Amino acid sequence: MVIEPKIINSICITAHPVGLEAVTKRQIEWTKNQPKIDMPKRVLVLGGSTGYGLSTRITAAFAGGADTLCVSFEKEPAKRAASPGFYNNRMFDKEAQALGLKAESINADAFSHETRKVVIAKIKELFEGGQVDLVVYSLASPVRVDPDTGEMYKSVIKPIGNAFKGKTINVVREEVVAAEIPACEEAEIEPTIKVMGGEDWKIWIDAMLEAGVLAEGVKTTAYSYHGPHITHNIYWDGTIGQAKKHLKKTSDELEKKLKSALGGESFVAVNKALVTRSSSVIPVVPLYITLLFKIMKEKGTHEGCMEQMYRMLAHKVYKTGMAERDDADLVRMDDWEMDQAVQDEIMKYWEQIETSNLKELTDLAGFHKDYMELHGFEVEGVDYSADVDIN
Ligand SMILES: NC(=O)c1ccc[n+]([C@@H]2O[C@H](COP(=O)([O-])OP(=O)(O)OC[C@H]3O[C@@H](n4cnc5c(N)ncnc54)[C@H](O)[C@@H]3O)[C@@H](O)[C@H]2O)c1
Repeated sequence: MVIEPKIINSICITAHPVGLEAVTKRQIEWTKNQPKIDMPKRVLVLGGSTGYGLSTRITAAFAGGADTLCVSFEKEPAKRAASPGFYNNRMFDKEAQALGLKAESINADAFSHETRKVVIAKIKELFEGGQVDLVVYSLASPVRVDPDTGEMYKSVIKPIGNAFKGKTINVVREEVVAAEIPACEEAEIEPTIKVMGGEDWKIWIDAMLEAGVLAEGVKTTAYSYHGPHITHNIYWDGTIGQAKKHLKKTSDELEKKLKSALGGESFVAVNKALVTRSSSVIPVVPLYITLLFKIMKEKGTHEGCMEQMYRMLAHKVYKTGMAERDDADLVRMDDWEMDQAVQDEIMKYWEQIETSNLKELTDLAGFHKDYMELHGFEVEGVDYSADVDIN
């Protein structure tokens, strides 16, 4: 079949296998050309099929020489093409195995105890010594079923207390539009923490610790975002921000546990705002990203997911024995984004942005390209008029 992009409410519901494989391959080739990272060789990535998780996995394997296991939740091909991560995983496993690395991808709900059992058994079978040295928690999901009670929790991205009134972008129509998001109900905060906070991460680490599959000196990390004050009402001070604060609290608990049990460490890395399938649906953030990209590209400090995660493992996590942290005990990968000169420029232009000057003041084209590539579209060298086998 011939597959075309189909975007409904800012969400692309189609994916192009050939385009996705080409993008994943390009990221792998970029990583192979970076200086090698001296790091341990057994890595588990929860949420490793797209975005930051995939980039961390590619870095660990192709710059760090690590065997990797990925858990992600993908729609398999049926009448329609699969979800993007399905094709990314397939390309990753093929390329890593071709280099003699062990690489497997498990397609299952990471929030379930059943999946934990399967993964722990796989760690014992796949990795040398039956243990892992690094556990990356990079899940982003709108829902989570509590594995003990069966109750389903839904996360929302809403402000707390006051409604958000501001502007955002309609990516398809390339327009700046007014956005108004009512404050959340009190009852929406807890479910968001349940889905995007640290509870599930802790269950994973506890289960793996008990099963003896974490190696001496193991590290674990989860990803967060802080952002500048123009995004705070909707992000850091909103429902999702409460979940991210819970993630940090969880990391502190895990750190104590892992340090005493295995001389290990746990940390939260605060990453840069980038175009991923998850971030594109957050109000305000995409408009902020288009301006951020323009300014960082002009300054020569722009990074995508790949560059960020390579820099993290090479220069912050495995440079010395312990991950390099700031005064608040966080690994700051958003250091270049939050640079004062960058933020001053953003503030200079933020109020002025409207539909008529959107293309001139922001990197709308860059945002659009990244977004389309996440789904395998508009990738150089791919013939989109050709029939593709979705399997
Ligand atoms: N994108 C950004 O701008 C940004 C910035 C800073 C931090 N972060 C954080 O990085 C983390 C990853 O986000 P992303 O933007 O890379 O998202 P993404 O949507 O690209 O990736 C999410 C991953 O989670 C997996 N997943 C979702 N539900 C699952 C389930 N039930 N079981 C197994 N796997 C499941 C998906 O398959 C995918 O691999 C999140 O914690 C996010 O808040 C993102």
